[in-house]
Amino acid sequence: MIVYLNGEFVPVEEARISVLDRGFLFGDGVYEGLRTFAGRVYCGPKHVERLARGLAATGIDADADSLEGLCEELARKNDLPDAFIYVQYTRGAPLPGAEPRSRIPDGPTRPTVFAMCVEQGSIDQCGSQIQTLRVQVCEDQRWLNGRIKSISLLGNIMAALEGHAAGADEALLARGPLLAEATSSNVILALPRADGSTELVTPSLDSVPILAGVTRARLLELEPAIVERAVGVDELASASEVMVCGTTSFVSVVTHVDGRPVGDGVPGPEALRLLELYINDIRRELALPDPARPPVRVAHG
Ligand SMILES: Cc1ncc(COP(=O)(O)O)c(C=O)c1O
Repeated sequence: MIVYLNGEFVPVEEARISVLDRGFLFGDGVYEGLRTFAGRVYCGPKHVERLARGLAATGIDADADSLEGLCEELARKNDLPDAFIYVQYTRGAPLPGAEPRSRIPDGPTRPTVFAMCVEQGSIDQCGSQIQTLRVQVCEDQRWLNGRIKSISLLGNIMAALEGHAAGADEALLARGPLLAEATSSNVILALPRADGSTELVTPSLDSVPILAGVTRARLLELEPAIVERAVGVDELASASEVMVCGTTSFVSVVTHVDGRPVGDGVPGPEALRLLELYINDIRRELALPDPARPPVRVAHG
């Protein structure tokens, strides 16, 4: 595997950083996770924008504009046109002679920029199946700056482990009475109305400290009927469908919450419709051909 480190593309075995790097010692950094399809980044400007916001919020002096080019070059170097690209920006290591572990950096540091790339399915594969998962509701004990895509993911990892220990694939985080997000995706509920129609809702960014997911943002543009509002954990019980969305999960179906089936416990019409909207958008943005497609297959998570 070829990785990117501070301006160079090198085999992963040769990539070296200082053990004094503030990302390693403090989790002092931000990251992005992007998808390429046929060698090109999807929703690049939204990722660049979020990265720029994270760099500005943390005061890490790195360049966000080079993100798309870096990802596409890395995918090319690895000969992986369909890939997930992880890019991390830390505040870097202290210069020689400076205090090795000071919360306020002892003098200037140069950011460490690292990226790696992992093979993923092609657009045809991703568009022909929908992932399913079981979730466990866990208390959200993370910090209040959820909008910063921090590399400090201990709270997410502890919740994911708690969900796993309870026999689920993923944790759905609850901030008191309010629904927040999953540990690596945002959440959307389909709620049946009295008149037989369906309301689509997702927790608003001002109701709980969650990540402003790029997939969430794109789905809100593609389906303006999705309402952003405070969503109660108790609304899970009346939802006909629960979905999560993210760069690698696209639109995935939650079949069980705390061991109880959601609806019939199988992918519902709203999830299939949103996934199709999303896959069509990827094809449109990246000008990918749309072959005659078989019906979507259910992949168990
Ligand atoms: C906590 C959390 N929420 C939501 C998301 C989804 O964000 P995106 O759609 O940008 O992948 C992620 C992605 O890693 C995440 O870690």
